[in-house]
Amino acid sequence: MSETRGEGSVVRYYCTSGSGMELFLVDEVKRKLAADAVRQIPGKVLFSSSATIDRVCSLKAAERLFLLLKEDSPLKLSSHSSPAKASSVLQSRLLGDGNRWRCAVTTWSRLQGELAARRNATATEGRRSEKQTEEGGKCTLESRKRTLELREEESENKRLRSDGQHESRPLNKEGEEDNNREVGKEGLQHFGVVTNVVDLDIESSEEKDTEKTEPIFKGSASDHTTAGLECTVENCNRTTNPLGADVLSEYVDNVSFRVNSKCSGSLARCLSAQEVSKVMGAGLSKLLGWKVDLKNPQLEINVSLNDDYYLLGIPLTRSPLANRGYIKTTGLRSTVAWAMASLAQIQPGFSVVDPMCGVGTILIEAAQEHKDACFLGVDIDDGQLQKANENIAFAELGSRVHILKASSMALPLPSSSVDAVVCDLPFGRKFGTKTNMAAKLPLILSEMERVLRLGGILVVLLSPQLSSVMKKLLIQKHFESKSNEEVKPQAGIENCLVPSFEQQPSQHHSDVPSSPVQGKEVQLSSLKHQTTLRVSLGAIDGLIHKYLKTLI
Ligand SMILES: C[S@@+](CC[C@H](N)C(=O)[O-])C[C@H]1O[C@@H](n2cnc3c(N)ncnc32)[C@H](O)[C@@H]1O
Repeated sequence: MSETRGEGSVVRYYCTSGSGMELFLVDEVKRKLAADAVRQIPGKVLFSSSATIDRVCSLKAAERLFLLLKEDSPLKLSSHSSPAKASSVLQSRLLGDGNRWRCAVTTWSRLQGELAARRNATATEGRRSEKQTEEGGKCTLESRKRTLELREEESENKRLRSDGQHESRPLNKEGEEDNNREVGKEGLQHFGVVTNVVDLDIESSEEKDTEKTEPIFKGSASDHTTAGLECTVENCNRTTNPLGADVLSEYVDNVSFRVNSKCSGSLARCLSAQEVSKVMGAGLSKLLGWKVDLKNPQLEINVSLNDDYYLLGIPLTRSPLANRGYIKTTGLRSTVAWAMASLAQIQPGFSVVDPMCGVGTILIEAAQEHKDACFLGVDIDDGQLQKANENIAFAELGSRVHILKASSMALPLPSSSVDAVVCDLPFGRKFGTKTNMAAKLPLILSEMERVLRLGGILVVLLSPQLSSVMKKLLIQKHFESKSNEEVKPQAGIENCLVPSFEQQPSQHHSDVPSSPVQGKEVQLSSLKHQTTLRVSLGAIDGLIHKYLKTLI
């Protein structure tokens, strides 16, 4: 349920989103902010909400957040319109009533004040509250007593390792294993893993998720006029200002601003984006007496014009919401990682595995959202594992997100032990690999299928090419399983679990192993396709596939 400010303070916002992320954002604003009048256009979601700005800034599927000033149908201009005609249409349609602008600036200013207050409160409370949250969120599946027992078992394991009976593991500066790892290994026990944890001695950060919610203008009028001010873009006429109109009016009459425009379609044939900004700037100065300041304005006004709509807005935060303050090294786009985690339908008590975790983005996004679940990241690359550990420590998630060095083609996990698998396979220039992923895909999928329990969810991010390989593979496997049914009775649940894997001892590789499934039947027919979504990853697109593990 969203925390609201009270009746009468509904604010209309819009967020930008990556292509393909709009649906996630629509769902998120409805669910978390109880948003109304939600409208989706390509790359943007418009909504009204009375949730606190804090809540609004915690949206995970959004790129940037704006206060919405005006939205309307597109400006209609003939292809022969002169620039002078286009400028005049632009000003008459977009500028409108001066009070509306003043009112919008008051709302913007109040929201800036609330953000600044939140930032100060976060800085003061700092680590204390975060530690409490983290404590509360530890794996609830392990009782305190069991934790102590495991610690004892672990010190015994440690002794054995130092006797040289297991592989060596990295040590911290003092040459001892880090205390954090004790917790990590408890988590791995929960996953049924007995293997090496790759952890580092890492300082966690005090500064967390505050950067992205840094207000744009710190010395706003809201320093004086925040409390109880109920002026919003929508309900301007109902405004009451308990602190008097004078202070407010002085502020809103002395705004410095600049206009940023994006322009396409028929208008772009008459005016460039720069000219649109100029026309709007001159118009606003004339209408309101505001000063244009291109270098260091108090206010930025964003104008989007195309053949489908026009939109005016003011950005509410300095950095994009998608820049996570709790992630040190970025991997996969955080919004896409969050979307993948949300497709996995994680429930309290779930065990979730990312078998190619990289720097751990998907697991961190999932763990931030689901406080009562446990997460395991597997990767084969030491450098990635080191960064993943740094990220986990930075986000203070060490008690619930664990990291393991292994190959995704030989996961050291029991069959049917995991509730959800999330995986971003290597592809593209940034995350590509020399390994022929298309060739390895059956083995990797087969392992993911094996460790998933019946009813478990698999969410994978693939390149368009890997996506079509995957589709073909599954169609082929389903076809094979159907033809097998004709000669033998319906396969039972045991058969879904690829028993041949279970007889294999767990392998702990430091390199890509010779595959444990080589020469064996690759199963895959228990994976039932649920959905495929195309999302933008910047230069390239990715396809998110979701599967449910069912009886064959
Ligand atoms: C696309 S990246 C994952 C990026 C990750 N989602 C993130 O945000 O950082 C794919 C990862 O798979 C790992 N990888 C490649 N082959 C592997 C294998 N056989 N077993 C486990 N991990 C492997 C790579 O080291 C790389 O970190």
